[in-house]
Amino acid sequence: MRIAVMGDIHANLPALESVLTDIATHARADATYHLGDLVGYAPWPDEAVALLERAGIPGVAGNYDSTVATDYKHCGCKYEDAVQEALSHRSYEWTRARVAPATRRFLGGLPFRIDLLPNGGHLAGPKVILVHGTPTLNTLYWTEDRSDEFCLKMAAHAGAAAGDVLCFGHTHKPWHRTVQGIHFVNTGSVGRPKDGDWRAGYVVLEVGGGTRSVSVEFRRVEYDLERAMGGIRASGLPEELADYLRTGGAPPIPPG
Ligand SMILES: [Fe+2]
Repeated sequence: MRIAVMGDIHANLPALESVLTDIATHARADATYHLGDLVGYAPWPDEAVALLERAGIPGVAGNYDSTVATDYKHCGCKYEDAVQEALSHRSYEWTRARVAPATRRFLGGLPFRIDLLPNGGHLAGPKVILVHGTPTLNTLYWTEDRSDEFCLKMAAHAGAAAGDVLCFGHTHKPWHRTVQGIHFVNTGSVGRPKDGDWRAGYVVLEVGGGTRSVSVEFRRVEYDLERAMGGIRASGLPEELADYLRTGGAPPIPPG
């Protein structure tokens, strides 16, 4: 079974449209899921949610979705510097003030976690567990440099065994590690990558087929970046969020 999983769309409609086209034309996916953080940072929260609903793509709640849905005082995002922190608050206020009631309801109804079992559990094979951040919290950042011990603790919490796949996002940086046979897959971000590559990222998992084999393909998809940047500039969102998309979150290269 081929499963496409995409996370952290963040209201970037041009990026989402291109990923859906890539899934339809290249991924040959049997099923598609999202990992939450559907809104924030770009000006199409209602449109992105409506597109996922129309496409019938289920998924889990990101921290941004939960906080917008409950009108919480901040988005649950953490930043390494004060400038990014301030921008993130402005983006959150913009989003919180503008999302339609129907979008808010949709975000509030997203589950915390989804478990996929081969043929609904009728066949032996790997379990695929989808969460936004970690199996304990959707605000906790699971970076690639976390210890094996941390990964195994999370796997135990989630009930994942050797051969299973734990799939998450939230850091916006894609990676795949295997610890004691358990696959840990961060899918990266569709709408706001932070690994220095501006292209939208998602993964295609290939699991099952009567075995416990798992393969993970990281895909990067070009999209209409100018449209996304223009949309941000025209929306009243901070201009810096447009530049962030162009650099893929990489710090600007000093001149000379
Ligand atoms: Fe996110």
